[in-house]
Amino acid sequence: MIGAVSSRVQFDNWFKGVFEQRWGSSVLGDVVGYALFPGGKRLRALLSVAVCEDLGGDSGDAMWGAAAIECLHIASLIHDDLPCLDNDVLRRGQPTCHVQFSESAALLAGDALISWAFELGLASPTGSEAICRILSVAFSALCRGQYLEVAQDKLRELDSTRAVSSDEVAKLKTGALFAGSLQVGAIASGIDEGALLAMLGNLGEGFGVLFQAKDDRDDGDRLLVSEVCRSSPRNELDGLFTSAHDISVRNFKSTYRVMMKALDLS
Ligand code: IPE
Ligand code: IPE
Ligand code: MG
Repeated sequence: MIGAVSSRVQFDNWFKGVFEQRWGSSVLGDVVGYALFPGGKRLRALLSVAVCEDLGGDSGDAMWGAAAIECLHIASLIHDDLPCLDNDVLRRGQPTCHVQFSESAALLAGDALISWAFELGLASPTGSEAICRILSVAFSALCRGQYLEVAQDKLRELDSTRAVSSDEVAKLKTGALFAGSLQVGAIASGIDEGALLAMLGNLGEGFGVLFQAKDDRDDGDRLLVSEVCRSSPRNELDGLFTSAHDISVRNFKSTYRVMMKALDLS
């Protein structure tokens, strides 16, 4: 039993311990460790823990699923930064993985993180099979979203009716993993109800669109900024939580707090 875990520092201490145990000084461990630590905001992990707590679960039980989601997130960023995708040289103010090591190291560290995510999911004390299914569904949707983004221009050229909106791309490339984070948190709490998981899926996707819009705006990607960003993200988020409450008769207070902070609304 890990005890009550509700902050980033506590998650990181736990995650670091599990990482050391699994990777130690093994080959590729330095590349994986570079990408994982100190890491970013740990938003997806914290959302898993928050949902678990909101549903009355033990946050210690949510750690495995939360870490698994975080691994998928970091893997997606390592790959997203590669020359064949966004070709970025900096991530969180540090050289990106392929710049610091090499393209092959970055590609393989991302692959290793994707497979480690499933090991972590399997180690969950509750609902390991359901968690692994959620991880798989979420990550394959993320890949589809990433491909949709890179293929967008080509699609438009071929047939303008096949082009999709930036919100649709964001729902997949960003929202799907947030959906998975929330669902994994619910499973860790011991609740595996179809209606609740579907509701959390919608909430995660909706939040993902808002979060991507904020990220694009912060990056100055004006062309990418979604329509949602031009309205009120606060109203959008509140609307999502009202629907969540209507469906589940639960408040999701911790989850709401984490999302508000992530969107700079609190
Ligand atoms: C960055 O996500 C990628 C997007 C989906 C916009 P985060 O901003 O959550 O990444 P870190 O892990 O905190 O750096
Ligand atoms: C990051 O997307 C990758 C995924 C969402 C899977 P972006 O390219 O929009 O985010 P940054 O700007 O690199 O963090
Ligand atoms: Mg990018």
